[in-house]
This record gives sequence, C-alpha cells and structure tokens, in this order.
Amino acid sequence: MTKNEVKNSKNEPTNLLVCGGAGFIGSNFIHYMLEKYPDLKIVNYDKLTYAGNLGNHKHIENNPNYKFVQGDIVDLEKLNQVIQENNITHVINFAAETHVDRSIHGGSKDFVLSNTLGVQMILDAVRFNNLEKFVNVSTDEVYGALELEDERMFTEDTPIMPNMPYAAAKAGGDLMCHAYFVTHKTPVIVTHCSNNYGPYQFPEKLIPFFIFKLLKGEKIPVYGDGLNVRDWIYVRDHVKALDLLLREGIPGEVYNIGSNNERNNLEITKMILKILGKGEEMIEYVTDRPGHDRRYAIDASKIMALGWKPDYPREKFEQGLRETVEWYLNNKEWVGDLWKKKDEMNKWMEDYVKKTDKPQERAK
Ligand SMILES: NC(=O)c1ccc[n+]([C@@H]2O[C@H](COP(=O)([O-])OP(=O)(O)OC[C@H]3O[C@@H](n4cnc5c(N)ncnc54)[C@H](O)[C@@H]3O)[C@@H](O)[C@H]2O)c1
Repeated sequence: MTKNEVKNSKNEPTNLLVCGGAGFIGSNFIHYMLEKYPDLKIVNYDKLTYAGNLGNHKHIENNPNYKFVQGDIVDLEKLNQVIQENNITHVINFAAETHVDRSIHGGSKDFVLSNTLGVQMILDAVRFNNLEKFVNVSTDEVYGALELEDERMFTEDTPIMPNMPYAAAKAGGDLMCHAYFVTHKTPVIVTHCSNNYGPYQFPEKLIPFFIFKLLKGEKIPVYGDGLNVRDWIYVRDHVKALDLLLREGIPGEVYNIGSNNERNNLEITKMILKILGKGEEMIEYVTDRPGHDRRYAIDASKIMALGWKPDYPREKFEQGLRETVEWYLNNKEWVGDLWKKKDEMNKWMEDYVKKTDKPQERAK
C-alpha cells in the first residue's frame, strides 16, 4: 500500500454515519456534505425527539446517497447493525438533548442518557467495528463561564467546569472520548463550538424563537439585563470546520470552533428588531435564568492553523443574521409545520408546572 493509499483510507469518509442528523446543525451538515461530495454515502441515524425534524430533508429524500434510520444512540445493538449493514467508515455525532432551559426546569435525566451514555455507546460501536474516525460534536459551554471584564478566552487547555446540567452531561461525553482514546486508542476527536445561528434551527433557541414570536406580533423575552455575551457562528461555517476535522483532525485532540464574534443578547435582539422593522417596545425583560453563564469566548486558533476560517466573521454578522431572518421568512411551509408542533414544544414546561408540588417528581 502506498503512503497516499494509507492517507486516503484514514482520511476520506466513504460511508458516513451521522447521529442526530435531523436536528439543526446535523441537517445543515448533511446538506453541505451531499452537495460537496457526490460519491459520499450518508446514513442519518436519529431518534426523532421533539427537536428532530425530517422536514429539514424533504429535498434530499430521494437522493440515492442519503438514507434515514430512526434509532437511539443509547441502543448499541442497533448502532452495530446500522454500521455493519452500511459499511460505515466514519461517524459524526450531533445527537443530544440541547435545550439548556429544559435541563434546568424539566429534569436532566434525558440529558445524561443521550449526552453522556449515548456518546459512550457510540465509542463502543466505533471500537468494536474498528471504524476509522469519530467526531463528537460538543460545546463551549463545558468550559463554564468568564466574567464580562475578563480578557481571557477559552482554549483547548481551559479546564472543563460546566455550570449547568446540559453542559455537565455534554462534558461527561467529552471525558468518555478522552478516556477511550487513552485506554483503547479509539480514534475520536472532540469539538467545542460556540453558539450557532442559521436555517433549520428549532424555535426554542434564541434567534428563531424571537423571529417566530415577532412574526406573530408577540413581545420577546430577554433574560435579566440582556448583557450575557456569547460568541456567535454561522452554522455553515461550523459544518465546514467539522468536514475538515473528519478528514484532517488528529485523533485524541480537542478543537475549539468559533468566529471571534462576541455579542450580548440585547445587541442581537435589537438587530433582529431592526431587520424585521419592529421597535424596542417589543422587548420584555424577564427574570434571569438560574446559573446563567455571563460570557463565553472561544480561541479558535488551533483549527485555524489547519486552514479553516469563517466565511461570516464578526464584520459579516449582521449580513448573516439578515440572511437567517430572510430564510425563515421565505420558508413559510417549514415554519408552519413547526408551529403545529408548538404544544409539544411547550409540554415540558406544563409538566414542570404540574409537578411543582412534588419536587421528587421533577427529577424524573
Ligand atoms: N446549537 C448550538 O448553538 C450548538 C453550539 C455548540 C454545540 N452544539 C452541539 O451540537 C449538537 C447538535 O446541536 P443542535 O443545535 O443541532 O441540536 P438539536 O436539538 O437541533 O438536534 C438534536 C438532534 O439529536 C436527536 N437526538 C436527541 N437524542 C438522541 C438520541 N438519544 N439518539 C439519537 N438521536 C437523538 C434529536 O432528535 C435531534 O434531531 C449537540 O451535540 C450540541 O450540544 C450546538
């Protein structure tokens, strides 16, 4: 075997398993990869929780290189079966419970199951089937928080110090990846990305939530003083970074992904209001979220050294946000279908309220 063949066999995914590919980032990733690599075969393995939406993939349903299988990442037997039946070479994992408020108010058991145990099951599947590479998509929230006046940023060496159940469950998965790499040499890469925005995002998250509410003429709730800072990245820039890491990332390494685009919530809110031609009277300040991290900031120089850079850096944020708002305005059928799921979306909150008299019930 020549050197090139060895490189190819390790770095070029031919049959890719995408776990959680019916959610926001996973959907954008699948669209990007199918467009860019006409010979790549993708299996989208997703449990279809309330956040999974096959409506994201209507336009690729008949693509012979795309297949959907409904399944849970916690189910190792099914993972093994799908991997073997489809000659999978590489895995990327987006599957997770992702809504921070739910993890705080609605109980965190499902978070630990999917975000920690689920990752461990994928690691076992990767190991037992001798796969070439596994990219586990994680979050900058595992690092905890910075103060507003702090000039530091999160690097890959920043200690893991999550402050909320969602982030702690994600950190559990990340630590499993580290342990499997050290113990079993499982070829796994972990990524820590900042807040994403763009098309196909479920409207419980800030940007689509605000757009949906404003389109209905409702006020938008801003937590606390609105000064909490996040680094915002356009989702397509994130998926391009993941494509690069699937090919060129070094197993055992962690990579931060961010656009050096720190913005506070109030700034984003005002930009959305401006794009939609609405006034600041539509803002309603509400009690802050418990344990609300003040600031996240990502140092992405390690992945930039591999050749990645965002197409939507800080200077193009308003343009990216405008394109995102336009996408939601132009995709009325997609928005309408999701709006029908509104009751399901809010069910966790109703259940929580019902259980407030029985604290032991809330943990379930
Ligand atoms: N959205 C962000 O801003 C952001 C930022 C950094 C990192 N991340 C990470 O990226 C990943 C994807 O985030 P997202 O915003 O696309 O999430 P999402 O909530 O939109 O989608 C999650 C998907 O995972 C599926 N899923 C959940 N549990 C599953 C299980 N046990 N088995 C199989 N499928 C399951 C859901 O059905 C859904 O399709 C997550 O791991 C998240 O932690 C997200």
